[in-house]
Amino acid sequence: MASYLHDNPEPAESEGDWLDRVATVRTVHLQRCKDRGHRFSMLTSYDAMTAGIFDEAGIEVLLIGDSAGNTVFGYPSTVPVTLDELIPLTRAVSGAAKRALVLADLPFGSYEESPAQAVASAVRLMKEGGAHGVKMEGGAYYAEHVRAMAQAGVAVMAHVGYTPQSVNSLGGHRVQGRDDAAQRLLDDALALEEAGAFSVLIEMTAEPAVQAADEALRVPTVGIGAGGSTTGQVLVWQDMLGLGEGRAPRFVKKYADLRGVVAQAAGAYRKDVLDGSFPAEEHVFKE
Ligand code: KIV
Repeated sequence: MASYLHDNPEPAESEGDWLDRVATVRTVHLQRCKDRGHRFSMLTSYDAMTAGIFDEAGIEVLLIGDSAGNTVFGYPSTVPVTLDELIPLTRAVSGAAKRALVLADLPFGSYEESPAQAVASAVRLMKEGGAHGVKMEGGAYYAEHVRAMAQAGVAVMAHVGYTPQSVNSLGGHRVQGRDDAAQRLLDDALALEEAGAFSVLIEMTAEPAVQAADEALRVPTVGIGAGGSTTGQVLVWQDMLGLGEGRAPRFVKKYADLRGVVAQAAGAYRKDVLDGSFPAEEHVFKE
C-alpha cells in the first residue's frame, strides 16, 4: 500500500504523454502544464455520475461551480446559491472522482466580509465536501482573502473577467477586458497570483487582455469565453453536452445534443407506458 507521501508517482521527464500518466491530478501538474506549454481540461460537475464519467474520460479538473444555481436549482442566476447547497454536491463529486483535481466555488455571500470568512467557508468545502481547493470570484480587492486561504493551506483558483456573482453590479452579461479595462484585468490577476492563487480563471474577456494576462502570469490560466491562449479551458457540462434549453453562449462548443436524446427517450417511454408495451415479458418477475 502506498504511503501517504508516495501515492502519486511522478512520471519520468522523458514521457511525452506525461499528463495522461498522472495518477491523481494536483495543482503541481497544472503548473507543469503552464511551464511546458501544455494544456489541461476542466468541466463543471455537480453529481457522482457525471463526475465518474468525466473523471474516466481524463478531465483534469472538476468544478462544483455555483452555476449549480442555474443548472441544478433552477435559479435565475448564481447569486442565491449558498454554501449549504454546494457542500452535498461537492461531496458527491469528490467521492466519485479518482484522478481529477476537485475544486468547489465559494458562493456569493460566503467570503466577501473578511479573509477569515473566506477561510472558514473554504474549510467547510474541503472538510465537509472533500474538495481539494476552491475557486473565488473577484479582483485585487480580494487579494488578502486569497492570501489568508493560501496561508491556511487552501488551493485557490482566482476568477476574474466576467464574474457572474456580480451580474447586478456589472450591468448584465458583458464581455470584460476591453480597452482600459485590460490593464485592470492584468493588475487584478497579478495581485491574486502574488497573494497565492495557484491559478487564475478568466471568463468572457476580450482575447488581447487574456493574452497579456497569460503572458504576465507565472501560474496557469483557465479560460471560458476567453480565447485559446490560456493553459486550461472550462465549460459548464450542460452547455457542452447540449442539455440546456435555448441558445448556449457563443463561446460554447456543443459536443452532443443530450436534450434531444433525453426528450426523445422520455417520449418513447411515455408512449410505451400508455400503450402497455412497457413493461414487456423480459421486465417481469414471474415468481
Ligand atoms: O460556476 C461555474 O460553473 C463557473 C464556470 C463558469 C467557470 O464559475
